[in-house]
Formats: sequence, structure tokens, C-alpha cells
Amino acid sequence: MEPVEHIRSQRPRPPCARPLVTITYAQSLDGSIAVRADAPLALSCPETKRMTHGLRSVHDAILVGINTVLTDDPKLTARRVGGPHPIPVVLDTRLRFPLSARLLDHPRGLIIATGPHPPEEKARALRDRGVTLVELPLGDRGLDLHALLRALAQMDICSLMVEGGARVLATFLRERLADWIVLTVTPHLVGGMPALAEPTIPFRHPPTQVDAFPALADWTWTRMGRDMVIWGKVRWPG
Ligand SMILES: NC(=O)c1ccc[n+]([C@@H]2O[C@H](COP(=O)([O-])OP(=O)(O)OC[C@H]3O[C@@H](n4cnc5c(N)ncnc54)[C@H](OP(=O)(O)O)[C@@H]3O)[C@@H](O)[C@H]2O)c1
Repeated sequence: MEPVEHIRSQRPRPPCARPLVTITYAQSLDGSIAVRADAPLALSCPETKRMTHGLRSVHDAILVGINTVLTDDPKLTARRVGGPHPIPVVLDTRLRFPLSARLLDHPRGLIIATGPHPPEEKARALRDRGVTLVELPLGDRGLDLHALLRALAQMDICSLMVEGGARVLATFLRERLADWIVLTVTPHLVGGMPALAEPTIPFRHPPTQVDAFPALADWTWTRMGRDMVIWGKVRWPG
């Protein structure tokens, strides 16, 4: 079963304590997700782009970090499969979100998760454009993701697709807030920006055994067009 059908069949319905989280991104063979942080790279082939839009269509919401908005100006719709579109959510502590961003025209609206006491004028301008602002406490590495998932569950968002970038992917993993991973791998060698901005577990001395790190359990893979897609549930180290 392709990942889209698999996740569709397991998709939780409201009410939920927290959304089911699917981490998904595209990387080159060497694990790059961009050339540099400020130089995005279109990695997926038409078939895996379509699969990504299919995945978006089976999630209630889709999340990216503010740097991805500033670099890629994404639309985050499921237009290649005709919808339904997930609600976009952006992590943006200081409201750096540009008023020219294409996400402001998203058909499902826009949620921006921000920090305590966001800049008032910018907050007003965003609310005037129909944006829902969710104020969150700060955690060790940015906004408190556990508080975010509780807030999303209260909005009946019970499945969340996390698309990046590198800081966001690493933080969700480090906080053990990932249930599924769907990874597109393209057969290119880029030597660019690594997919994960930091180690996925905290440690004082670097582990020497790879089993100390989270892994995919019961994973499977398939070839789609030029690319490979690997997916499975996340297994956390004991
Ligand atoms: N290949 C792919 O599939 C793919 C997908 C998406 C993005 N990308 C690429 O990834 C790059 C951007 O990645 P990035 O690592 O620079 O930035 P990012 O992950 O998009 O955004 C990180 C920013 O989000 C904010 N944030 C707030 N709370 C956070 C939390 N709890 N955890 C993590 N971030 C939090 C922080 O900014 P504040 O402190 O200002 O809030 C942080 O610097 C771009 O080059 C883009 O093209 C690739």
C-alpha cells in the first residue's frame, strides 16, 4: 500500500489528545534538503511531488518553520491531487512572516504559532489578513511543540504533516513528536544543507551504537518515477 493510502486508513478523527504527526521531506542521496539555507532546491520528480500532495490531502494540517516560508514562499496546498487542502501552520516566534507571502491566500486560512507577547503592530496586520495567531510558551529550542500540539488538538486538528526545514524536523524528532516518516530520496549527490539541523537525541558523550538513535520500524520502500520513497513508523530508543 502506498504511504498515502496507509496513512489515510490510520487517520485519527476528533476528538484527540494530540495530532498524529507525519514527518515528510525530500533529500538527495547524501541527505541534503537544500543547497544552502538560503538556496532552496527542487528535489522531487513529478511522481513524488504528486505523492507529497496526496499526503497533504490526508492530513488536517501541515507545518513548516518560518525560515522555509522566507526561503521557499510555499503554497502548501494539495493542488496536484485536487485537495482537500490541509490547514497551514507556521512556527514563527517573532512574527517575521512577510505580508507578501503566498500562504496568506491559502484556501483554508493560516495559523501562525508565535511566542509570548508578539510585536503588536505586526500581530494586528496579520489578524486583519485573517491569520489565526496562537501564542505559545518557549521551550529549549524555540516554541514549545507539546503546547502547540495540544492547542491544535483543541481545534480538532488530529493529523499533522511536518514538512521542514532542517531545524523543525530535528526539533520534532528530538521532542519525540513524530509517529510516521515518509522520506523521498532522489538519486543525486548535492553536498548541501543536511536534512536535520542537530542530533535527534540529547547526549553528553556521542553514542557509538546507532541503536541509540530513533529509527524506522516495519519500514518499506517503493520506487516512484526517478525517486525512492521510504516510509514507516518511528521507533524510539529504549
Ligand atoms: N527538501 C525539503 O523537503 C525541504 C522542506 C522544507 C524546507 N526545506 C529547506 O529548509 C531550509 C530551511 O530550514 P531551516 O532549518 O533554516 O529553517 P526552518 O526549519 O524552516 O525554520 C526554523 C525556524 O522556525 C522557528 N521555530 C520556532 N519554534 C521552533 C521549534 N520549536 N523548532 C524549530 N524551529 C522553530 C525558528 O525561528 P524563530 O526563532 O524566528 O521563530 C527557527 O529558526 C530552506 O532552505 C528550505 O528550502 C527543504
